[in-house]
Amino acid sequence: MTQRFIATPATQVNGSIRVPGDKSISHRSVMLGGIAHGVTEVDGFLASADCLATLRAQQMMGVHVERLSPTQLRVHGVGERGLQAPSAQLDMGNAGTAIRLFMGLLSGQKFATTLTGDESLRKRPMERVAKPLRLMGAQIETLDGKPPVRIAPVTRLQGIDYALPMASAQVKSAILLAALQAEGITRVSEPAPTRDHTERMFQDFGVLIGRDAGSVWLAGGQKLTAAPVSVPGDFSSAAFFLVAGALAGGTEFVIENVGVNPTRTGLLDILRLMGADVRVHERVGAGAEPVADISVRASQLRGIHVPEALVPLAIDEFPVLFIAAACASGETLVTGAEELRVKESDRLAVMAEGLTRLGIVNELLPDGIRIQGGQRFTGGHIDSHGDHRIAMAFAVASLRADGDIHIDDVENVATSFPDFLQVAAAAGLQVRGA
Ligand code: S3P
Repeated sequence: MTQRFIATPATQVNGSIRVPGDKSISHRSVMLGGIAHGVTEVDGFLASADCLATLRAQQMMGVHVERLSPTQLRVHGVGERGLQAPSAQLDMGNAGTAIRLFMGLLSGQKFATTLTGDESLRKRPMERVAKPLRLMGAQIETLDGKPPVRIAPVTRLQGIDYALPMASAQVKSAILLAALQAEGITRVSEPAPTRDHTERMFQDFGVLIGRDAGSVWLAGGQKLTAAPVSVPGDFSSAAFFLVAGALAGGTEFVIENVGVNPTRTGLLDILRLMGADVRVHERVGAGAEPVADISVRASQLRGIHVPEALVPLAIDEFPVLFIAAACASGETLVTGAEELRVKESDRLAVMAEGLTRLGIVNELLPDGIRIQGGQRFTGGHIDSHGDHRIAMAFAVASLRADGDIHIDDVENVATSFPDFLQVAAAAGLQVRGA
């Protein structure tokens, strides 16, 4: 298994590439497919470590899943009440989405479960999910707020009206999954829009939900009816290549078949504000989720103060945005992004450390970062702290580097983008595993 990337300076990206399926949608396809009535055909599934953890957990609870090909699944739903007690604890690996959404899905069950994960996941906050679920009547214990999470059986949940204290699609989705099993109406309000894949998939599966600008609500006791899920390419994986295309020389560079749900594409807006030439060519006839080919040309970027309203819409894209910021003219300021501190790593601190190691002047802020632009990366050694997106972001820095960049602790790239090295090579990057 590759433990290190060595990214050699490159100058061009060219042609067209595809990125693997969306991680958020892949998790949800197996979770909802598993509790639906009927057979859910999933196409474009991301067979990464994170999504396979979700798949294994569903199998341990009695859901039969046929793997027709690496990206095609047939999920035989057992119905809302059909899951069975697993014989062991459920290991979610590195996957925050899996553990938090399963907390919602399992909090109303008549059997006990224990959810755990790897070293990184066992440091991440789970009370943000446990608290609202307890208000619904769930019996949940965390270990000092973190995994392992123990869920005791309950006979009923009740609906709640809950205002999320932070913008989090995982917390919102966990509550909505519990709401399916609760009596009465559950309403969740969010301080800012976050990804709405759960809501869209609920609607596709026949669940009636209400939505207005800041909230979503539904009545408990509804049935899910299996529906085909077509998973588009993951915008968050495409993001590395969008930035690569903006930084590199070369002709137009195209990333095909990418999910462009507007709750995910904040990076497009941010890059355009920075002066990037990015074009979205929407494909017609996509399913619940909009899909497009995105083309990008090399452009001189300029630093900006990233509008805080765009932060939740670009939440997973900041590591690679920081790489773009270092190459832009002038300063880039990111604020209102304290959520980055509780991702797979503390992405503000780990990125600041890596940027500094490669000679990029920056100032770490409690809720963001200030990055001096107009710089080139020196070669050197950085530690991704096991964070997949940080590893891939520094690989993109090789387009503006004066020497090889050695990136340590990259195994977790397999959690979201198992064939990153092949796709990067096809684009023209010179990154190899060691
Ligand atoms: C996700 C929501 C976001 C995101 C994560 C995936 C989801 O997390 O960072 O990668 O699939 O719902 P938060 O809800 O913690 O912001």
